[in-house]
Amino acid sequence: MTMIDISMACICAAIIAGLLLHKLVVRLQLSAAKHRSLTGHSRMARRFAALVPFYEYGEDRFFRADEAPEPVAAARRAGFMRLAGLFEQRFAKSAAMTAELQDSVSDLQFTSRYRVPFQFSRYAREHLRGGAFLESSSGVTVTDLDGNRFYDLTGSYGVNVFGYDFYKDCIARGAEHVRELGPVLGAYHPVTAYNVRRLREISGLDEVSFHMSGTEAVMQAVRLARYHTGRSHLVRFCGAYHGWWGDVQPGVGNPLAARETYTLKDMDEASLRVLATRRDIACVLVNPLQALHPNANAPGDSTLVDSGRRAHFDRAAYSEWLRKLRVVCSERNIALIFDEVFVGFRLAQGGAQEYFGVRADLVTYGKTIAGGLPIGVVCGRRDLMKRFREDRPADICFARGTFNAHPYVMGSMYEFLRRLEGEPVRAIYRDLDGVWDARARATNERLAAAGLALRIENLSSIWTISYTQPSRYNWMLQYYLRAAGLALSWVGTGRFIFSLNYSDADFAEVADRIVSAAEAMQRDGWWWRAPQLTNESIKRRVFKEMIQARCSPFIGSMSSPRSK
Ligand SMILES: Cc1ncc(COP(=O)(O)O)c(C=O)c1O
Repeated sequence: MTMIDISMACICAAIIAGLLLHKLVVRLQLSAAKHRSLTGHSRMARRFAALVPFYEYGEDRFFRADEAPEPVAAARRAGFMRLAGLFEQRFAKSAAMTAELQDSVSDLQFTSRYRVPFQFSRYAREHLRGGAFLESSSGVTVTDLDGNRFYDLTGSYGVNVFGYDFYKDCIARGAEHVRELGPVLGAYHPVTAYNVRRLREISGLDEVSFHMSGTEAVMQAVRLARYHTGRSHLVRFCGAYHGWWGDVQPGVGNPLAARETYTLKDMDEASLRVLATRRDIACVLVNPLQALHPNANAPGDSTLVDSGRRAHFDRAAYSEWLRKLRVVCSERNIALIFDEVFVGFRLAQGGAQEYFGVRADLVTYGKTIAGGLPIGVVCGRRDLMKRFREDRPADICFARGTFNAHPYVMGSMYEFLRRLEGEPVRAIYRDLDGVWDARARATNERLAAAGLALRIENLSSIWTISYTQPSRYNWMLQYYLRAAGLALSWVGTGRFIFSLNYSDADFAEVADRIVSAAEAMQRDGWWWRAPQLTNESIKRRVFKEMIQARCSPFIGSMSSPRSK
């Protein structure tokens, strides 16, 4: 070997070592940007979920899962049976119709099963039959088949921002606009021109595309980002929901691993470092609702194993985080996508971009924006929205949908957007946070004064309940609230969504009911305290039960519903 050969070999080795080192650093940066929870580790979460065995509590254990003494269990049982009797009598028709469809509607089976932690689910389902049907809505209330009126805290998954009457009107008036054309698809009804103009104004972006759901809008935004950047990966933040498309739901719930998705820590510098160094990132998806509970999944009562659920909204901190994201995305030519499907017009007239003072490259809207009809919208920069290349005609980014820009949806959207400009709606937005923060604060003061260990955390009109004392039974509150005439969605106390037409009097009534429902639950002994009962001890116990149930089928049957 000559000296030249040797020095060439040394240079090659140094280059390879340098490349390997760079790869290692980039890989380590990615690891550092993962949230330490299972939620932050999608693959591990899926593996763990597959290992969780089914077991459930029989009648006795149902009331003493925390080893409470017998008198406490007896009080719980009495309270539970009182509720069961009340439900049976009050919701008879709704429950009967629900039972009739239970085996035929898969969605119904799923939501009724996952209302509460699975160990308690069957017994609760069998005794507390609420019913999944409603007959009418008016003001801030909904009415079931038995004629019971509930204050609506479901917000219809976030669609209901201005009150159901508003949307009924949008739909009816919208239908009048497009009646002559009817369900003709492919061509556009003229109202669409107004919608496009308004959407461009609101988003501050150049182009618009219409889809049938928020999930589809997100799919399209990500596809466009991949097409234009030529990169494969999307970044989503830990816990954020962006619809049920596989690539944005890499963890539990998706049978496949999402290989082109990075799940990074929300509000964390380590994530910014990943964005600043990796070359395969096409876009970053932000769901601003996560500002209420960064790095945690949407809070549902079925995961209320203990009282570990926490939330807190800091507008200034989240705005600062979005500004940092904006900077790194611009520097690295990564598309910043705000997924405003949920929060869209709930926070501000101009959506989350206006509320947080940061502009995105692509914005998805949905839910409320079609005045109560199904919708997904993408607004974006012209260079990102284009679906073909001038110089390569066969290289296209395909996106079609039979029902896109359906005339009836466009008609209803037209009504929604027109009203959004009107004074009554403008008035609602004035001091919106002031109103809802004050309501949350006042409710918390009342809860504290009543010695109740729960507190409201809110992002404007979106509320979640945190429990401040260790308990296995927090999820029971959803049934007490229902008995008090408050309608919750299937995630229970994890999310209350108020429509913005709640008057002070309506709200006062809801606050009274929240406090009195929680007091009733307290009286019935569900929030029994003991020094040995901590969140850690609860988790340890449940973990032990799982191990036992996995190891022995007999232990599983020991706690079957028939056993005592
Ligand atoms: C932020 C966000 N993105 C996307 C979606 C999916 O929208 P859709 O249910 O209309 O498909 C949702 C639904 O809740 C959402 O909250």
